[in-house]
Amino acid sequence: MLDDGFDFAALNLALTDTPFAGKLQFFPTIHSTNTHAMQQAEAGAPDGSVYFADEQTAGRGRGLHEWSSPAGSGLYVSVLLRPRIPPADVLWLSLAAGLAVRDAVQQVTSLVCDLRWPNDLLLGTRKFCGILTELNAEVTRIRHLVIGIGINVHQQGFPPELRNLATSLQIETGRAWPRQELLVALLQSLHREVLALSAPANAIAATQSILERLERASSWVRGKQVRVEEMEGLAGVTEGLDTRGFLQVRTPEGLRTVFSGGVREIKEARGK
Ligand code: BTN
Repeated sequence: MLDDGFDFAALNLALTDTPFAGKLQFFPTIHSTNTHAMQQAEAGAPDGSVYFADEQTAGRGRGLHEWSSPAGSGLYVSVLLRPRIPPADVLWLSLAAGLAVRDAVQQVTSLVCDLRWPNDLLLGTRKFCGILTELNAEVTRIRHLVIGIGINVHQQGFPPELRNLATSLQIETGRAWPRQELLVALLQSLHREVLALSAPANAIAATQSILERLERASSWVRGKQVRVEEMEGLAGVTEGLDTRGFLQVRTPEGLRTVFSGGVREIKEARGK
């Protein structure tokens, strides 16, 4: 297997034109890079701080799920931002982070992945990357937010209960990919997305661009038969995103808006 460490001098050099250069911190092992980033943000860490780890002992996913983070297997990274956007626009940032990962993975591996709203990344039908965006805000002002990204890179297999749900870049391509290259491509791409959304004169164009790219890149945004475990649960066919970035689902009771994740495909029962 590839000796897949990180070279700080090269990392900082490659990120020179971004706010992340000189602000990266690596942990051989940590509880959760997101928890740490939120704590550091409280303590005054600057915009653009990046925390990443070889292993997480308490990696967190969305909806209080765990994120399995064995040593040497994945990219576990949290980015601290203090963006000058209204709290209502954070969903756009989170959706843009999904596009940034997609772009980075394609650049490095040539794999083209699917996006399941709001920001799971899939290869075929199996997930290889998840994003947990956490926020500290007043109603009208973001104090800070942390975008936590977990990418399955080197895993060669998963336990039986995950085998149909999870995959890795190694499983999909049969080869190892350097985490450093993925990290650089990801942070460069994320920087472009944040920059576009943060320029007030450009905000409408930026959200329009995210919408258009998601419509092209995601097989989930439109025409997918789904169920959503939200509140009392709903089922129907996806019908695009609304002007705030929320998923719309056509149900027998009418058009419904999905506010949280947990979107799953309903597979047609095979006829006999
Ligand atoms: C999900 O799909 O449920 C989101 C998973 C997010 C995992 C990443 S790994 C780096 C960061 N630290 C965490 O504890 N979680 C995020």
